[in-house]
Amino acid sequence: MIAYFSATGNSLYVAQKLAAQLDDRLVSMDDSLKTGQTAYALSDGEQVGLVLPVYFYTVPLLVRQWMSRLRLMGNHKPFVFAVLTCGGQTGQAGRILTRLLLRERLDLQYLASVVLPDNYIPLLTVPEPERQQHLFLAADQALVTIVGQLKQKTRGDHDTNKSALAPLLTAFAAPLYKNGRKTGPFYATDRCTNCGLCARICPDNIISLPDGKPVWNEPFCTHCLACLHRCPVEAIQYGRRTASKTRYVNPRVTWPA
Ligand SMILES: Cc1cc2nc3c(=O)[nH]c(=O)nc-3n(C[C@H](O)[C@H](O)[C@H](O)COP(=O)(O)O)c2cc1C
Ligand code: SF4
Ligand code: SF4
Repeated sequence: MIAYFSATGNSLYVAQKLAAQLDDRLVSMDDSLKTGQTAYALSDGEQVGLVLPVYFYTVPLLVRQWMSRLRLMGNHKPFVFAVLTCGGQTGQAGRILTRLLLRERLDLQYLASVVLPDNYIPLLTVPEPERQQHLFLAADQALVTIVGQLKQKTRGDHDTNKSALAPLLTAFAAPLYKNGRKTGPFYATDRCTNCGLCARICPDNIISLPDGKPVWNEPFCTHCLACLHRCPVEAIQYGRRTASKTRYVNPRVTWPA
């Protein structure tokens, strides 16, 4: 099985490609937490893959929650692999993921990463269309290598996007995720059409629409930015820096119904 978490489609794109080429079933961490179905019976020899975005050089909160509730049933020790998606650098996210999996008695045997358009618009801007095309091409090439390695059950750390300063970057950035997850700066402008999509797709289930417009009901969230990027009329803002920024959704994915 390949379990994925994805807000703007990059990790879903990678997960769908891997699942198709490795003949694995796809599992959404988000749906799994929402339905409470976090136990999986593995068939003989079935491997377990995780595909997730990097946040602040670390592992998203929702993925941590999913891993802590995951129960695997089967009569073999599965081959466990992970593929991170990021906008440029993973820092020590892979190392942190390895530690978190060990806590759940799972041994991460293969790690890789794929660079795709960065969606963190409270700080950065989404790459221009031409740059996005270049990233998609490079990602597809990286995926050919990753699929080849996974078919051979290659082991080891093949994350080539850590950066030489990974420990330093992670030591600085990862603790910022805690406060970076504040929901206070989210608001919806008058463009909101009350369609309800943001509430339906929020993986943390913390958005309600008391008067048609979204309200964020918890002080912190996973901070995936799905609500902000996928609002069809770009009504959602985060503080003062997102109003002028282009939104991003991976154009190559089909979202599961
Ligand atoms: C809260 C947040 C923090 C992020 N931090 C990083 C980061 O540390 N390094 C990086 O390269 N990209 C970072 N990104 C960009 C995402 O990892 C990247 O765009 C990812 O592919 C998004 O995956 P998704 O489309 O499956 O949600 C961050 C994005 C968000 C929303
Ligand atoms: S997705 Fe956008 S338009 Fe729809 S309810 Fe949310 S803020 Fe309003
Ligand atoms: S409120 Fe928005 S950013 Fe936070 S978890 Fe929900 S969809 Fe993601």
